[in-house]
Amino acid sequence: MDPPDHTRLRRLVSSAFTARAVARMEASIAQLVGEYLDGAAERETFDVLSGLAYPLPVAVICRMLGVPPADERLFHGWSAQLTRLFDGFDNHYDGNGETPEWMQGEVELHRYVNELVADRRKRPRRDDLISELLAAEDGGDVLSHDELVSTIVLLLVAGHETTVNLIANGVLALLRHPGHLAALRADPGTAPAVVEEILRYDPPVQLTVRGADQGLRVGDAKVPAGGLVFLLLASAHRDPEANPDPDRFDPNREQVRHLGFGFGPHFCLGAPLARLEGRLALAAFARRVRQPELVADPPPYREHVNLRGVSELLISHAGVTR
Ligand code: HEM
Repeated sequence: MDPPDHTRLRRLVSSAFTARAVARMEASIAQLVGEYLDGAAERETFDVLSGLAYPLPVAVICRMLGVPPADERLFHGWSAQLTRLFDGFDNHYDGNGETPEWMQGEVELHRYVNELVADRRKRPRRDDLISELLAAEDGGDVLSHDELVSTIVLLLVAGHETTVNLIANGVLALLRHPGHLAALRADPGTAPAVVEEILRYDPPVQLTVRGADQGLRVGDAKVPAGGLVFLLLASAHRDPEANPDPDRFDPNREQVRHLGFGFGPHFCLGAPLARLEGRLALAAFARRVRQPELVADPPPYREHVNLRGVSELLISHAGVTR
């Protein structure tokens, strides 16, 4: 979406995601992280993906929006199907005929959010983002019903499929570099630098796409009007002119240059939230899980082009402390 519609919609949700608004959630996020790691304490092996990296961002975004906790489990399948849409290579649907399987998640999620909005309209609350957006819709013709539903779906999906991979890719990088894991354990204050380096080294979002509304030239490539440009963010991160010795995972870099949250007017709205969740999860993992060892290296990966993340991250000898 381009301005002015993009500016209007983004403004409506941006206040909920500022660094200051997000900082207020620190204690509740830290508590959730603590509970998930408590759950690992009794186990001989622990799947970092299903036990920590996945449930944390899901619970946080669902609570912000006001999705009932009992419904959180519904999203897993829908969201996993829906992310196939981001790959954009082998899926084309012209709206005619039967809905293809990879569209089902999109359809179900929209249906669910429509019902949630209808329910909140009947029984408004004061403490969640859906109610705030409804007030904006009712108050001044600034948000249509379809825009409201699409915005909520976008936030739910963005909150499900990205920070998950930041945490899991981060734990994986730390397990492969025990010296950096030990450094984080010794000084949790280094967590923000670890998070930035993960966003560069193994970014959850590998690429983004732009449509050219007029013909243009990028380097030697000619892009026709209406053409799509695939921007390989992860590849840019490995440019030695941007980051010296780019294939090395090193949270102690003097400067980390990355496009992990994009760039420009569409710069990730959830960046402060993702950074906070990543920082708290990785610091707590380093502090509490004493002798983690990877069960499989490499672990199995999800079949995505755009979103890069594992389908399981088993560790053994977890030995979780208080
Ligand atoms: C580590 C976690 C995350 C990563 C790596 C990430 C990455 C990105 C990237 C690369 C973009 C730009 C896409 C483009 O320009 O085409 C983006 C946009 C966006 N992200 Fe994130 N994201 C993360 C977490 C989140 C979270 C937690 C939320 C909110 C709950 C969120 C909400 C959004 C939204 C709404 C946009 C669209 C902004 C716009 O178009 O103005 N993201 N994200």
